[in-house]
Amino acid sequence: MSTLEAFVSGLPKAELHLHIEGSLEPEQMFEFARRNGVSLPYESVADIRAAYEFSDLQDFLDIYYTGMNVLLTEQDFYELTEAYLRRVAGDAVRHVEIFFDPQAHTSRGVEFETVINGVTRALKFVGHELGISSKLIMCFLRHLSEEDAFNALASAEPFLHMIDGVGLDSSELGHPPSKFANVFSRATELGLKKVAHAGEEGPAEYVYEAIDILKVDRIDHGNRSLESEVLVKRLAEEQIALTVCPLSNLKLRVVSRLQDHPMKSMLDAGLLATINSDDPSYFGGYINDNYTRLATALELTEGDLVQCAKNSFTGSFLPSEKVKQFHSEIDSYASRKHT
Ligand code: HPA
Ligand code: ZN
Repeated sequence: MSTLEAFVSGLPKAELHLHIEGSLEPEQMFEFARRNGVSLPYESVADIRAAYEFSDLQDFLDIYYTGMNVLLTEQDFYELTEAYLRRVAGDAVRHVEIFFDPQAHTSRGVEFETVINGVTRALKFVGHELGISSKLIMCFLRHLSEEDAFNALASAEPFLHMIDGVGLDSSELGHPPSKFANVFSRATELGLKKVAHAGEEGPAEYVYEAIDILKVDRIDHGNRSLESEVLVKRLAEEQIALTVCPLSNLKLRVVSRLQDHPMKSMLDAGLLATINSDDPSYFGGYINDNYTRLATALELTEGDLVQCAKNSFTGSFLPSEKVKQFHSEIDSYASRKHT
């Protein structure tokens, strides 16, 4: 293990941008397909991995929605979430705020209740065993109508005690945040936190809409915010967190090389930028791979990585006392020697 890998491996961190369906590994996809009698358009695990070459977000989403067809039972959602938690426990992840896409399941005849019960049971019991706390965010699919999002929110109402926030994901271009103004306003009335993917492929204008119209608490991705100096100043002043996903950006060609990734500029501008994996099974790495590969490409210092890890707690929905505790744990970790 290199010095960098050793430093990252024990650095306490939170993951704030993770689609649980995007943690479905090919081996598990085959296992679920077999036991549920679902046919897959792939012959082998190697065949699946070979299909994971994407030209853009839509190209990825088509494969992502096909992959999740194997998820049918509460046990599937439990095991999916359990596998993710066990994987990231080894990455010194101490807190996760995970997304799920209820409409991608209810549209296939899987009940909202089946999905949420499986995911939350794992978050509670496996999270407790591993010492990982969690929040759960349900995302609306933005390529569908606002009326569809309202129906999803209505299905969620009996389960609001299990849900911390709402988000917005799927095909960004042509589906601006303003399309979901009313349903986000309803989420505010219900006391939910709000986040939205913006500025991944969409323009800085979409980031403005997410902040000013949807009134989000943080921005998922946000890369294209850097195209507006005024927006960068605002994000810095208001310390609005960005949940940045380096390997996702590379695989979806938001950047052509990791050396061109904007993370260093974000940190230099004083933005509350965090490092996350997005859909680790599809993008070739979990959270620590994102930290180490980005640090190598951009020559980030241990100080930069400590800043990112601290930002992950500051930008989380944890209470401020917990955030302070994690910050001091990070400080004491960073002051020790790592080999
Ligand atoms: N962007 C938008 N929607 C998504 C993503 C993403 O990176 N991953 C899963 N759904
Ligand atoms: Zn995402």
